[in-house]
Amino acid sequence: MPQCKFFRECRSNAVIQIPHTKMALCKDHFLRYIENRVKKNIEDNHLIDFQNPKEKVLVAISGGKDSQTLLTILHKALQGRVALEALYIEVGITPRNYSYDSAIIARSLCEKLGVPFHILNVKEHLGFTIDDIHQLGTYIKKGKRNRKRNNYRGECSYCGLLKRYYINYFAVKHNFTKVATGHNLTDEASQLLSNFFSIDIELMSRAGPITLRDVEGLIPRIKPLYYIYETELIMYAYFAKVEHLPTECEYATDSPVISVKKSLEKIESFRRGSMMNMVRDFQKNLKPILAETITEDHQIVKKCSQCGMTTYLDMCSFCTTTNRLKEQMKQFHILEE
Ligand code: FES
Ligand code: ZN
Ligand code: ZN
Repeated sequence: MPQCKFFRECRSNAVIQIPHTKMALCKDHFLRYIENRVKKNIEDNHLIDFQNPKEKVLVAISGGKDSQTLLTILHKALQGRVALEALYIEVGITPRNYSYDSAIIARSLCEKLGVPFHILNVKEHLGFTIDDIHQLGTYIKKGKRNRKRNNYRGECSYCGLLKRYYINYFAVKHNFTKVATGHNLTDEASQLLSNFFSIDIELMSRAGPITLRDVEGLIPRIKPLYYIYETELIMYAYFAKVEHLPTECEYATDSPVISVKKSLEKIESFRRGSMMNMVRDFQKNLKPILAETITEDHQIVKKCSQCGMTTYLDMCSFCTTTNRLKEQMKQFHILEE
């Protein structure tokens, strides 16, 4: 490895080369370089309003490397200027003690940083867990009958829906003004390309480091790690000794987005900077055009007829989906009538 190139006066040996620029950096300057890029994203894209005394940020924390690293960097970047708290959604995944261990690690980081830690147990609110959904999926996959009509989408999809709903629910209830998530550049580039393959212009127009539409009852979501590669996050977590759960969730499957991610990583290995250029150029050149074409104004904001949360439908997709899952679980005797 060559010498660190951060400052001319730094004579330390480099420990890493930045994937998209090939700049060689020593450990301390690498950590500072990543933190500076996160701060730049926060400032350039107005992710956090430092002038608003009521600004209150909720970090959605899962115990994994992305959200643990996000909380670590955000805590450092905000320096107590804005209220920062963390929420762990307990979805009930028991194989390999996944949920139990994740919660312990998430809580431990919060205690170390002095960030208030909250936990919301899905079973207490909803009456079933992701383990129950997995059991339902096993029965549905085994049985040939009504397979199509059962419409089972997979554990990860339901898990994402439950987490998004309860994070927003908690944020509304406790007057948070922003929800921060650990999505990184590699996630975003993969999602963008997947949406392009299906020409989902509406989803593409929503991509960005912050959700822009201001709707009461839907707390804006911010992505401070939007311009940080996943490989950089792995290295940051390693050098900064950010504790996180190293194991994957048992139910994680190779979704189409994961296959796109693997292909993009391959392309990046011989065309460095591809993902960064794609996401940056999309934000700069294509998104403004899409935003002009797609106007969400025709969508009328309503209150869900069942749960009362903000939605564009008569009943929100969370209630529609969980009602259907409950019915199916009763049929298979996973839930009692
Ligand atoms: Fe939610 Fe794996 S973490 S299904
Ligand atoms: Zn250095
Ligand atoms: Zn609802």
